This record gives sequence, C-alpha cells and structure tokens, in this order.
Amino acid sequence: MKVLANDGISNSGIEALEAAGFDVNTTTVAQEQLIDYINKNDITVLLVRSATKVRKDLIDACPNLKIIGRGGVGMDNIDVEYARQKGIHVINTPAASSHSVAELVFAHLYGLARFLHNANRDMPLDGDSKFKELKKAYAKGTELKGKTLGVIGFGRIGQATAKVAIGAGMKVIAFDPFIENADLELEFFDGQKLNFNIETVSKDEVIKNSDFLTLHVPAQKEYVIGKDEFDNMKDGVIIANAARGGVLDEVALINAIESGKVARAALDVFEKEPQPEIQLLMNANLSLTPHTGAATNEAQDRIGVELADQIKSLLLND
Ligand SMILES: NC(=O)c1ccc[n+]([C@@H]2O[C@H](COP(=O)([O-])OP(=O)(O)OC[C@H]3O[C@@H](n4cnc5c(N)ncnc54)[C@H](O)[C@@H]3O)[C@@H](O)[C@H]2O)c1
Repeated sequence: MKVLANDGISNSGIEALEAAGFDVNTTTVAQEQLIDYINKNDITVLLVRSATKVRKDLIDACPNLKIIGRGGVGMDNIDVEYARQKGIHVINTPAASSHSVAELVFAHLYGLARFLHNANRDMPLDGDSKFKELKKAYAKGTELKGKTLGVIGFGRIGQATAKVAIGAGMKVIAFDPFIENADLELEFFDGQKLNFNIETVSKDEVIKNSDFLTLHVPAQKEYVIGKDEFDNMKDGVIIANAARGGVLDEVALINAIESGKVARAALDVFEKEPQPEIQLLMNANLSLTPHTGAATNEAQDRIGVELADQIKSLLLND
C-alpha cells in the first residue's frame, strides 16, 4: 500500500511504515495536481501537516483513499466530518508535542526569571563597554524552585508542563472546568517513577496564588486572562502564553506590565499571527518566540511514529 506524505514525515515514521511493508512517498505535490497524483499513483494514505488542504473535492475525486493523517493537532485544513461520512479514517497526533511545548514554557520562565531575554539583547551591544552596569541591572534574578506555578487548562500540555514544574521543585496548582484531578507520573533517568495526584482548584485561587502562571487552554470566544484576572494576580507575577493568541488580552497584559502588576511575560502565540502587534515586539519585558512550542525534532519523530502506529493498526488489522 502506498503512503503519500505530502508535507513531509520524520525518518522514524518512514522507517516504521516501511518496516510494515508500506511504500512511502515524500514528494510534495502541488495542491492543484494532488487529485491526479493520488489517483495515478494509487495512494491509499494521504499524510499532511498544515500546508496541504484536503477538501470535499479531493475526497470525492479520490475514492481509493482510506486514511487522511494530520501530523500535529489542528485539522482546519481537512474536511474531517465529510471524509468520515465517506468512510475515510481521519487521524492526528494530539499528544506528540505536549512535552515540547512544556519545555518551551520553561525555557521562557527560566529565561525571564534571570533576565536572559534582556541580557541577550544587551550583551552584543554593550557587553564590552558596560559589563558592570549590566551585571548590576540583572542582579535581582529569582529561582523557580519553591515557587508556585499556576496552570490554567489542565489537559495534555498543562499536565506535561506540571510534570516539568514538579521536577524543577515547584508547587503546582491548576484550574480546569472539566478536570477534577489528574494523576501525573514522573519518569526519571534511572527508571524510577513517582506519582503525583493534582486536584484542580478554582480559577480565582490559581490567579491569586501563582508566582508563575501558564496558559494551556484551547481557543475560545472570550479572553481567559483579561484586566480583572490581572488585577487579582500577585504583584510581580511572571506569565507565559503558549496556548493560542486570543486567550490572553494583549492590551491588558501591556497595561499590567506598565503598572508593575506583571513583572515579565512570555508569548509564543499572538492575537495577530503572523504579524504580532509592534507594542509586543518592542516591549523589553517580554520574551518572545514565533509559535515554536511544538517545533522540536523529538516531537516530529513522535508524530511520525504515532501516525505509523495508527496506520498499521487501521489497515493491517482490517
Ligand atoms: N505553542 C504551540 O506551538 C502549541 C502546540 C500545540 C498546542 N498548542 C495549544 O495548546 C493548547 C492546549 O493543548 P492541549 O493539547 O493541552 O489540549 P487539551 O484539549 O488536552 O487540553 C486543554 C484543556 O483546557 C481546558 N479548558 C478549556 N477551556 C478552559 C478554560 N476557560 N479555563 C481553563 N481550562 C479550560 C479543557 O478542559 C482541557 O482539559 C491548545 O490551545 C493548543 O492549540 C500550542
């Protein structure tokens, strides 16, 4: 059976599929030639990331397709319900990048706690002429160990972030309207495992008691963090948003930074992507990344292997 990975797939995914007898093709076929290519080459499985669109016309025109797979989470580029009505399996890999996002959050939090976002901007300019001034300016760092991390949205990534936090010696409190408690299993290098059960608390408790706060909720109609929430936070809180632009009110964030309520913040996602507001880009109290939370080699490997596992169990057990 033939697999077309039109937006690419990791080598580990290719190897797993080939070992199971699949023929994997990683040609990137232009959207307008895709229907023709799938039919002429007798493709059974179409794998995409976010670039290739799999709409009704393609689904109707390619009756031999059995699986459409999305490497990653969001399936906005696929007419999922329509494909399923036509008997095509539609699969994705929602858990593959959770730990990658969690580590990016911690990269930001550790960086912000020690002013790395500023030091990295200042050292190339003034590191030789104003070394002592910079040393003094960045002398009041803080440690994460012993502090409280508030997690808003305690699903896959929220829980992965909590595990990293516990490993770093932090106390974790979490809010999620749909999850009462979660069992977290921490695995260590020598095979030891430790279990933690975290009971979620009210949003208000998380907002009021967190030294560091991180958001892991899905996109929604209203801000999850806006002016009222900022007003209720501890003075000097450090916040990270690696969830979705629009879950945190960016104007309210800037105001909260200016008033001193929020010390510093990290943004991996923005209300306006791919052109975030200039006031965010220029703000010295923000640590910024261009939506790279899931972008690690390990996540790509897991995506490939998870897709391969699902394809094998769907097609080889038929
Ligand atoms: N930065 C990145 O590159 C990147 C990568 C992958 C996912 N994400 C985003 O991360 C977010 C979380 O992903 P996930 O895989 O953990 O999803 P998930 O569905 O496993 O967890 C989300 C949790 O949020 C909870 N929730 C919903 N509304 C809430 C609210 N108002 N307050 C508190 N909790 C609420 C849900 O009950 C759920 O448990 C999503 O927005 C996703 O798009 C970002």
